[in-house]
Amino acid sequence: MPAAVVVGAQGVIGRYFVEKFAAQPGWNVVGLSRRRGADAANVRHISVDLQDAKAAEGQLAGLADATHVLFAAFQPGSGAAADYAKNIAGNLALLVNSVSALDKASSKLERVVLVTGTKYYGSHLGPFKTPAREDDPRHAGPNYYFDQIDWLTAFQKGKRWTWSELRPQTLCGFAPGTAMSLIPVIAVYAAIRKELGLPLAFPGKAWTSLYQVTDSTLCADAAWWAATDPRCANQAYNITNGDYFRWQHVWPAIAKVFDMPMAEPQPHALVEFMRDKAPLWDAMVKKHGLQPLRFDEIVAWPFGDYVFNCNWDVMTNVTKSRLHGFHGAVDSLEMFQRLLARFRAEKIVP
Ligand SMILES: NC(=O)c1ccc[n+]([C@@H]2O[C@H](COP(=O)([O-])OP(=O)(O)OC[C@H]3O[C@@H](n4cnc5c(N)ncnc54)[C@H](OP(=O)(O)O)[C@@H]3O)[C@@H](O)[C@H]2O)c1
Repeated sequence: MPAAVVVGAQGVIGRYFVEKFAAQPGWNVVGLSRRRGADAANVRHISVDLQDAKAAEGQLAGLADATHVLFAAFQPGSGAAADYAKNIAGNLALLVNSVSALDKASSKLERVVLVTGTKYYGSHLGPFKTPAREDDPRHAGPNYYFDQIDWLTAFQKGKRWTWSELRPQTLCGFAPGTAMSLIPVIAVYAAIRKELGLPLAFPGKAWTSLYQVTDSTLCADAAWWAATDPRCANQAYNITNGDYFRWQHVWPAIAKVFDMPMAEPQPHALVEFMRDKAPLWDAMVKKHGLQPLRFDEIVAWPFGDYVFNCNWDVMTNVTKSRLHGFHGAVDSLEMFQRLLARFRAEKIVP
């Protein structure tokens, strides 16, 4: 019986991986993270701090039936989100400790899927060659993706299992309580402006630049394909919705979801604008009967500042995944409307 181990099962990517693999007939799923998710008939969560190699080895030793590993754990750094890529030691440890322990625990491993991202090409640093192809060179300077890829490809040599690497861009999903996620950034920003009687002004410099995103559902579909298709063995793929957009064309639809008037873009640091808004948020939670999520756990504002200020084109080429059999596609405009409406409907924001 195949068994998938999702590393980082509480994240904006991992939660969708758990759901996708658990929905496959005959599959068992084990989710790993420090927080525990809800168990189900074929889903079990293990609370483990994967920074601790000994704890990882001890707590994963019983997973002798693991056949597939889906790695989507992440540890942010401090300060600007563009600098998170420099947090090498913490992110490498998450991969090394989990995959080494699972490789030791199970002789049935078939594939390890590693999630990296478009930052592989330096999309967080400034203009880069677009659309980026998987065989384009790495950017100069530190990036924990490079250390993770180099370690995994070296560790895999001589093993029975193979690896695949997925490079998505700005995940969009419904994972309340997971801060590094674009949809809550937009939802909470809009809700607070509305509460203050302000129009919905785009807060960054990227108003006219080309951008792309990845729906978490599509990313999970891609992970299923990458984990199970023989063509994906030891291959890397860009994974996005497949379309490109400019914020200037998406923003009116977003304003409509919140029944708000729009205003001209007003580039300003969300980190600064939001610094004193926690009491307002707490009052909004009471006033509108919202789910009781703390202001600091619902949104990572540095992530919003990062995404809204990429005032250069961010585009990757997804032809390789199509040629190798993955044909998932999402209309990004429809996705923003759908996910933001869900944040309202489920009372995360008013
Ligand atoms: N989010 C995006 O827009 C995006 C875009 C492109 C690429 N990526 C890449 O995708 C990867 C995953 O990112 P993500 O955004 O999905 O992260 P995320 O939403 O922050 O989720 C991270 C996961 O890792 C777990 N985790 C963190 N520290 C841990 C520890 N010490 N022990 C065990 N589990 C730990 C977290 O659970 P606990 O906190 O409960 O431990 C959570 O389940 C990263 O490499 C990221 O760069 C993300």
